[in-house]
Amino acid sequence: MKGVILAGGLGSRLHPATKVTNKHLLPVYDKPMIYYPIECLVNAGIDDILIVTGGNGAGDFLKLLGNGKAFGLEHVNYTYQEGEGGIADALGLAEHFSAGEKICVILGDNIIEGNIKEAADSFRAQEKGAKILVKEVHDPERFGVAEFDGEKIVSIVEKPSKPKSNMAVTGIYFFDAGVFEFIKKLEPSARGELEITDVNNFYIGDGTMSWSELCGWWTDAGTFESLHRASNLVAEGGANRMDK
Ligand code: DAU
Repeated sequence: MKGVILAGGLGSRLHPATKVTNKHLLPVYDKPMIYYPIECLVNAGIDDILIVTGGNGAGDFLKLLGNGKAFGLEHVNYTYQEGEGGIADALGLAEHFSAGEKICVILGDNIIEGNIKEAADSFRAQEKGAKILVKEVHDPERFGVAEFDGEKIVSIVEKPSKPKSNMAVTGIYFFDAGVFEFIKKLEPSARGELEITDVNNFYIGDGTMSWSELCGWWTDAGTFESLHRASNLVAEGGANRMDK
């Protein structure tokens, strides 16, 4: 399985901190934000990685990461997203890289305490389809939210005003290579983006979506409040620990 980190977008919710640089190069406690999703993939045994970048400072990723030696990698792949067409638009750029293999996708601003090794192994064994990781939160209206019927996820609603559960869909997704065909059929949402939630709802409709609950803490770092929280969580308890 290959890994894709989505680190495009304009980071407008972090202006002016992102006025001349990419959000994923900002520090989260003692390391640039992009380090955390890379470590998460490497800890799950995924070492063939594509970084989709965009906006300001895209060239700085190469200066910072090079071929990924700091993570024990021999090579890192990079591509560039023009504009801010949404998460699914950024993912569409990974079609050539995936070359028909399954992929694990992580949003570049998602940071976790534990690791995703078990989920990655279970998706390696899943015949086809997709898998998402959910996490209970106190502010579900900020995220994609899963609606359950018993143990089954029946739909995901993006940033609902009246959430049907407290289970947020984290920015860690597993897809088979069919994802790129789903993306080609997407229409932009009301906010003008190709939504990852629409991709996930395709798989739910197809009956091939599995899910599990993420262990340990999880946070995004895309707002000043969550960036601050992420730094505190890392400072207090580390991130991507193998024992969680
Ligand atoms: O953090 C989890 C949440 O992430 C999910 O629960 C939501 O379903 C999902 O839509 C997403 O919501 P956000 O509103 O937080 O996404 P945001 O626009 O902040 O983008 C998250 C990351 O995705 C960002 O750090 C980089 C990447 N991205 C985003 C956009 C819009 C791109 O690479 N390109 C883009 O055009």
